[in-house]
Amino acid sequence: MKTRRPLIAGNWKMNGLRADGIALAEGVAAKAKAAGAALACDLLVCPPFTLIADVARAVAGGPVAVGGQDCHAKTSGAHTGDVAAAMLGDVGCRYVIVGHSERRTDHGETDAVVNAKAVAANAAGLIAIICIGETEAERDAGRTIEVVAGQFHGSLPDGATAANTVIAYEPVWAIGTGRTPTNAEVAEVHAMIRAEAAKRLGADGARALKVLYGGSMKPSNAKELLAMDDVDGGLIGGASLKVDDFWAIAQSCP
Ligand code: PGA
Repeated sequence: MKTRRPLIAGNWKMNGLRADGIALAEGVAAKAKAAGAALACDLLVCPPFTLIADVARAVAGGPVAVGGQDCHAKTSGAHTGDVAAAMLGDVGCRYVIVGHSERRTDHGETDAVVNAKAVAANAAGLIAIICIGETEAERDAGRTIEVVAGQFHGSLPDGATAANTVIAYEPVWAIGTGRTPTNAEVAEVHAMIRAEAAKRLGADGARALKVLYGGSMKPSNAKELLAMDDVDGGLIGGASLKVDDFWAIAQSCP
């Protein structure tokens, strides 16, 4: 039986002007409020930086948490265009995504950079959602387990705990493509992550750690994915931009 409460997290990426973001946040907040205690998961939305303060106001007082999509490893200083973890906390964030594959690809972020960002997030009191996942070429070469395990250990700070860290397994080839791994492929990677986590967090820590799946999760496949033993929720891109789709996924939690 699952003892971890699932986390359903929306990664809005670079989408939405203020009116869109506020409407989306209000829509999710209203559904969550109506569901009340029947809600079987924790809910999180991660808007672009420009919308965070508005979205935090829109969901205030309800069960929907707010997160950033990235933060800098430093606390302040000459880093034009960047945002520090404490700044995110200051406008209402409880979480921040670090090491998303789009950051790793677009901005050359290495495991060491992601690790430092997770340290900064935790130091600012935020829960770091650390993203890891193989490319299609790596999977085709039979290197999935080796690559994902390497990213996991390289990106996970020594001070990580199940309380300050969430892992998101996101195969790069499944993001935004409509393609997903088979259940057996998801199960294999998630079980490996939990086994590797035991080496770092101890058996109890690993048992408590949330490991999300991300990559083309949608209402039609969420139930099956979320039912799997080691899948503790989802990090959802495209389908998090529509209230009804995001809600249908949240409702798919066992
Ligand atoms: P997707 O994105 O749901 O649009 O595939 C997931 C993610 O990148 O977090």
